[in-house]
Amino acid sequence: MLQARHIETVQSTLPLLESAGTALTEHFYARMFRDNPELKDVFNLAHQKSGAQPVALFNAILAYARHLNNPAVLSQAIERIAQKHTGFLIRPEQYAIVGHHLLATIRELAPDAATPEVLEAWGLAYQQLAQIFIGREAEIYDQAADTAGGWRGTRRFRLIGKTQESELITSFEFAPVDGKAVSTFKPGQYITVSISHPSLEQHEFRQYSLSDAPNGRSYRISVKREDTPVPGQVSSYLHTQLQVGDEIDLLPPAGDFFLNVEHEAPVVLLSGGVGLTPMLSMFNNLAQTTGRQAPVYYLHGCENGRQHAFAEHVAGLCANDALLHSFTWYQAPLATDIADQDYQNTGLMDLAPLRAAINGDKTEYYFCGPLPFMQSIHRQLKAWGVADNRLHYELFGPHQSL
Ligand SMILES: Cc1cc2nc3c(=O)[nH]c(=O)nc-3n(C[C@H](O)[C@H](O)[C@H](O)COP(=O)(O)OP(=O)(O)OC[C@H]3O[C@@H](n4cnc5c(N)ncnc54)[C@H](O)[C@@H]3O)c2cc1C
Ligand code: HEM
Repeated sequence: MLQARHIETVQSTLPLLESAGTALTEHFYARMFRDNPELKDVFNLAHQKSGAQPVALFNAILAYARHLNNPAVLSQAIERIAQKHTGFLIRPEQYAIVGHHLLATIRELAPDAATPEVLEAWGLAYQQLAQIFIGREAEIYDQAADTAGGWRGTRRFRLIGKTQESELITSFEFAPVDGKAVSTFKPGQYITVSISHPSLEQHEFRQYSLSDAPNGRSYRISVKREDTPVPGQVSSYLHTQLQVGDEIDLLPPAGDFFLNVEHEAPVVLLSGGVGLTPMLSMFNNLAQTTGRQAPVYYLHGCENGRQHAFAEHVAGLCANDALLHSFTWYQAPLATDIADQDYQNTGLMDLAPLRAAINGDKTEYYFCGPLPFMQSIHRQLKAWGVADNRLHYELFGPHQSL
């Protein structure tokens, strides 16, 4: 049981951890993958190479150690991580492996500081956090299984539609092989693709935001082909190998980023590039919602007309509903783009000219896209004084603060 003296001991090691930086989590992952190579089938190794996952883990551990007296302040972060973990089918027994490598890392990187008291205190603190995750993840797995049309673990789906939406983005629609219903989801949530295939070095899990409103029969995702610096493993597999009629394993919908607004709250959806997928699900859902009284603005930025997915679809929804509005930015329009009506602005998304129209006390903002896009939107909205609880965002990779 974690006691005040343990908390004090853990917190006394904070300066040491801070100075070790992500060397700590990099060492941790290196030794874990060396001794437990089976976990390479669980983690996304591209996120290890980019360093994003070691940074996310390091920040989480530091934040937890700082708030050991009151872990409730971390409830949002804990929910996000628990949701993420269930998208990788993390199991309770794997916590002991991670705990073992975490303590060994402290011992190996800081042999002088790693006294028996320090190791005992960190061991207890880790167990407390592990129990929080294990408990919440069990609830998420149970909820996904117990909901109508839901399931536990993987379920076999068949690709029933493959539609090119732009030069880089293709949509994939999946229906379950068992022919039964599928669970609903909250617009903004994702499903996870679980793939073992000879073209992949190891088993992979990848999250993809659902790009349409729930329909109870099938799920649609829309995937960008990742080409640089090397072809992305799963996106390439989906684009080039998976054909209509082929089967694939999916995990149930999950995620803590979803539309949650009152009928009278104006909504601004902002996306950059393939970040449009959760926004489309939200936009389609809002378009179908009867009784809405407030406007919805969909702001999207992309490179040019060839990369502008779902342009006609969005324009069609707006033409039929006076409460729906859309504005589009092309960063570098092509000569062929000038003639059409698919964009209004050139360059990066600058919200200033729209401020009077879109910003109000009750407006809720949802945004998703590449990191520099998200940082720019966040900066602009914070400069308007928008409160944090009205800013909702999703990153297509390990979490980072904006
Ligand atoms: C919540 C969530 C929702 C998402 N929703 C969507 C969505 O709706 N649509 C969508 O398209 N994506 C979405 N993503 C991203 C998606 O999960 C994948 O990360 C994406 O498809 C790339 O996966 P991949 O296997 O193709 O690429 P990976 O093989 O994982 O590679 C990722 C990137 O790293 C680069 N890379 C790989 N190896 C190396 C190396 N050795 N050196 C340097 N660079 C390297 C690749 O070139 C590529 O650009 C989402 C992610 C999350 C977390
Ligand atoms: C108390 C212990 C743990 C902490 C503090 C922790 C923390 C985190 C954090 C901060 C993230 C990133 C979340 C995000 O992107 O929003 C993450 C993702 C992840 N965690 Fe954990 N985790 C713990 C235990 C585990 C265990 C036991 C496993 C299983 C071996 C695991 C596997 C993963 C995987 C596979 C991801 C996704 C990685 C990716 O996107 O590349 N974690 N975890």
